[in-house]
Amino acid sequence: MKFVLATHNPGKLKEMSAILSRFGVEVASPADVGVTVDVEETGTTFAENAMLKAKAICAAAGLPAIADDSGLCVDALNGGPGVYSARYGGEGLDDRGRYTLLLNSMRGQTTRSAHFACAIACAFPNGDELTAEGRCEGTIAFAPMGEGGFGYDPVFFVPEKAKTFAQLTAEEKSELSHRGRALAAFVEKLETYWKQ
Ligand code: IMP
Repeated sequence: MKFVLATHNPGKLKEMSAILSRFGVEVASPADVGVTVDVEETGTTFAENAMLKAKAICAAAGLPAIADDSGLCVDALNGGPGVYSARYGGEGLDDRGRYTLLLNSMRGQTTRSAHFACAIACAFPNGDELTAEGRCEGTIAFAPMGEGGFGYDPVFFVPEKAKTFAQLTAEEKSELSHRGRALAAFVEKLETYWKQ
């Protein structure tokens, strides 16, 4: 069965297709199936936003659609930027601008615990829905380190690896990342759904 992966973010598309293809799930991008849907992320939780996107793409493409919503939740910032991670600091900033702003907001802050969270939602044309979540605990580094990944990866330090996400290989990252964990939980639910 072919699924549409409801994301325009090339970093996420690459990570998610790599993980899902290991489980025999064939994925296409919205562009591959000729749909362009811009969904406003009006939800207050990652799960709500993921389902909004999955349902919109499923309705437009007439195929099962998988969407994720994720973000970085920093304890010293009361869980922010959270669902606003992609928009942190406003439209004008790129990834580097956003993580630099985060480091500046954390200057002098000794409580540096944070986690990445990811919700995956899948909507089927018959109205069925599946959801899964994953998270990864870490701390906010004092300076960016590493060249890999995307987004806040250079400033998200994983104590068990003594590296930032940006210093891990794609395989290492997906083994412990919020998205990798959410996808693994999602694949388990998908297998059960298929059997039923
Ligand atoms: P979304 O596209 O609304 O899910 O936006 C999530 C935002 O959170 C991204 O644009 C990144 O800024 C950040 N983010 C989510 N997952 C990761 C990750 O694995 N590494 C780094 N940043 C991430």
